[in-house]
Amino acid sequence: MAKNKFYCTTPIYYVNAAPHLGTLYTTVIADVACRWNALRGKEVFFLTGTDEHGQKIAEKAEQLGQKPQQFVDSMIPPFKAAWQRYGIEYTKFIRTTDKAHEKAVVELIERLMASDDVYKSTYQGFYCVPDETFVAGDVDGQAPLCPSCGRSLQVVQEENYFFRLSAYADKLLEFYAANPNFIQPKEKFNEVIEFVKGGLKDLSISRKTVTWGIPFPGDSQHTVYVWGDALTNYISAVGFGGNSAEDSELLVKWWPADLHIMGKDIVRFHAVYWPAFLMAVNLPCPKKLLVHSYILVGDTKMSKSRGNVLDPMVLADTYGAEAIRYFLMRYTSFAQDANVSLDQLLTVVNADLSNSFGNLVNRVLSLALANNGAVVPGMESLENDGVVLREKAHECIASVCDEMAHYNYHLAMAAIWKFIAELNAYLHEQQPWKIVKTDTKRFFEIISMTCHGLQVVSTLLWPVMPEKMKLVFAALGINQPILVGSDATEQLRKMTWNKTFKLTMLSSTLFPRIEVAQPAQPEVAQPVASAQTAVVAPVVAEASAITIDDFAKVEMLVGTILECVAMVNSKKLLKLQVDFGPRGKRQIVSGIAQYLKPEELIGLQAVFVCNLPERKMGGELSQGMLVGVDDSDTRFSTLLLSCKMPNGARVK
Ligand code: MSP
Repeated sequence: MAKNKFYCTTPIYYVNAAPHLGTLYTTVIADVACRWNALRGKEVFFLTGTDEHGQKIAEKAEQLGQKPQQFVDSMIPPFKAAWQRYGIEYTKFIRTTDKAHEKAVVELIERLMASDDVYKSTYQGFYCVPDETFVAGDVDGQAPLCPSCGRSLQVVQEENYFFRLSAYADKLLEFYAANPNFIQPKEKFNEVIEFVKGGLKDLSISRKTVTWGIPFPGDSQHTVYVWGDALTNYISAVGFGGNSAEDSELLVKWWPADLHIMGKDIVRFHAVYWPAFLMAVNLPCPKKLLVHSYILVGDTKMSKSRGNVLDPMVLADTYGAEAIRYFLMRYTSFAQDANVSLDQLLTVVNADLSNSFGNLVNRVLSLALANNGAVVPGMESLENDGVVLREKAHECIASVCDEMAHYNYHLAMAAIWKFIAELNAYLHEQQPWKIVKTDTKRFFEIISMTCHGLQVVSTLLWPVMPEKMKLVFAALGINQPILVGSDATEQLRKMTWNKTFKLTMLSSTLFPRIEVAQPAQPEVAQPVASAQTAVVAPVVAEASAITIDDFAKVEMLVGTILECVAMVNSKKLLKLQVDFGPRGKRQIVSGIAQYLKPEELIGLQAVFVCNLPERKMGGELSQGMLVGVDDSDTRFSTLLLSCKMPNGARVK
C-alpha cells in the first residue's frame, strides 16, 4: 500500500533568518525527490515550513518593537516567494504557530506524560542562546564555546521537565539494527549509533525562561522546548492531534514519512530524539533520513553573522532559478561540503546548460523546421548507428534510475550529461545539415533519432528543471511522460523509437548565455573547474615534454575508500583502506589530515598511484598514493570522477 505514496519533509526553517542558498539547497533536494516520485506515478505529500518559537525570536521581535506573532508573520512572505520562484511544489507549508500544530504538541507531551516518560528536575548546563541548544560540559570547569556557532555560552540553571531518553537507548539500537538503511550516508548513521552506544542522558523538554512558546500542558510556567515543538511538525501536518475522522485518515495515510531530508547539523535530533518520542507514543518511526553536507561560501558555512549569505532571489535574477537547481544537484554530493562560487555558477550555466544542452535542442529544432520537418516520422526499424545510439540511451536511463533511487543526484546528472555529449557527437558525426541536400529520408532518420534522445533527456531532467523541460516537451510536441509502475527503467526503455514528433520552435532561448557582470556578492572561493570547463594548458617546451609512454608508466587506479582513520603518532597522516576491485585492497597512508576528517573520505571514489614502491609512513605500510590537489594552506581536493567507475579501473 505504501508503494504508491511518498511523504517527504524538509526541516522547518528558523523563521528569523531569510531563506539563503543553504536552506534553498535542502528544499530543492526535497523538491527533486518529490518530483522524481511523482514522475514515477506516486502520490506525493511534500511538507516544508517554519520554526517560529523560542527566545531568539522573542528577542528579535522586541528589538523591532513588535509582538512576536507580528514579527513571525512578517517573515513568511520571503520564504513563500523564494520557494515559488524556485518551483518548489510543496503540499503543505506548516508553521509552528498554527493552532493545529500547537494542539498536536500538547497532545504529544500529554501522551509522553501518560506513559510516564516525563518527570520534573533541575537542570544546570551551558546554553547557547542564539542556537537554542544546551552544550555538554562540566559547569564547574571552563566554559566551552558553542561547537555549532563558536559563540560563548551562558550557564543556566532551572527547573525543567525531562523526557526519559536514557530508557530508549536499547530500543533505538534495536531499531537501527533492524533498519540498516535508516540514515544515508552510512558514516552519519555510524556516528549516530556510536553516540547512542555511548549512553543517552534524559532530555530537557521545557523552559521557564522562554515565554514565546507553546505552554507546557499542566504547568503554564513552562513552555515546550524547541525540539519537542519543532519535530512534532512532521506528524501535526498530517492530522496528529486533530479530532476529526479526516485527521485520523490523514495520519494513517501518510505516517510514517518516507523521507526526512536535513543538513548534517541536525541529524542527532532526527535520528535519536525523534524516534524515541515516537516510540514512546507508539507511532512508527520515519523510514529514512537523508543527510546532506553544507554549502560553503569562501570555505565557511553560510550564515548571516559571517556575512557570506547568497540570496536565492539575486541568484535567480542573474543565473535563472532552474539553472541554480541544476547546479546544486550536479555539483554537490551529499556526503561532502561544497564550495560554491559565482564564477563556477557562470561557467556551469554557459557550458553545461547553454552550450551542451540548450544548443543541442535549438540546433535540432532549427534544422528540422528549416527543412519541412514540423512533423518528424518515427523510425520503423533501427540499424547500425541507430542501434548504438539507442543502446547509449538505455545505459543512461538505467544509470539515472539507479542513481536517483539511491539519492546520488550528482551522479544521475553526470549520466544525463554523458548522454547529451553522445547526442552532440552523433549529430556532429552524421552531419544532417549536409545529408539534407542529398538524402531526405536519412536526414529525417537522424533528426528522429535525436528527438527520441531529447525525449529521454527531458523526461529524466524534469524533476530538476521542471519549467525548462516543459518547454522542451512542448517543442517536441509530447505530453509530460509519467512512469507508472514498478519498473521505471523498463518504461523509459520502451519510450519507443517509432514516435512521431510534431515540432515547434522554442519561443525563447532555453538557456541564454550569461555575459553580464557578476552580482554584488560576498567574497567567495575560486571555482572548481566543471567537467565542461575548457582549460587552456600552457604550451610545454619540447625539451621538458614527456612522451605518452612516460605517462603510461604511472599506474593510476580508481579505488573506493572503505575505511579511514587518523594516525596516533602523526598530526599529518591519515590511514586509508582502499578497495581496487579485482586489483584487491590496499592500505594507503596520505598526508592530508590537516585538510580532511577521516569521515569525510569514507565512501569516496578517488584516484591513486599504485606502482610506487611500498614504503612506511608514520610507522605504517603505505601501498600507494592518493592523487589530489591542495592550495598548500587550507584545502585539499581528491580528483572527482564525474560518474561512478568500477574500482580498479585505470586512469589514462
Ligand atoms: N529549525 C531547525 C530545524 C527543525 S526541524 C524539526 C533548523 N533550522 S535552520 O533554518 O537553521 O536549518 C534548516 C536546514 O537548513 C538544516 O537542514 C540545515 O542543515 C540547512 N542549512 C542551513 N545552512 C546551510 C548551509 N550553508 N548548507 C547546507 N544546508 C544548510 O535547524
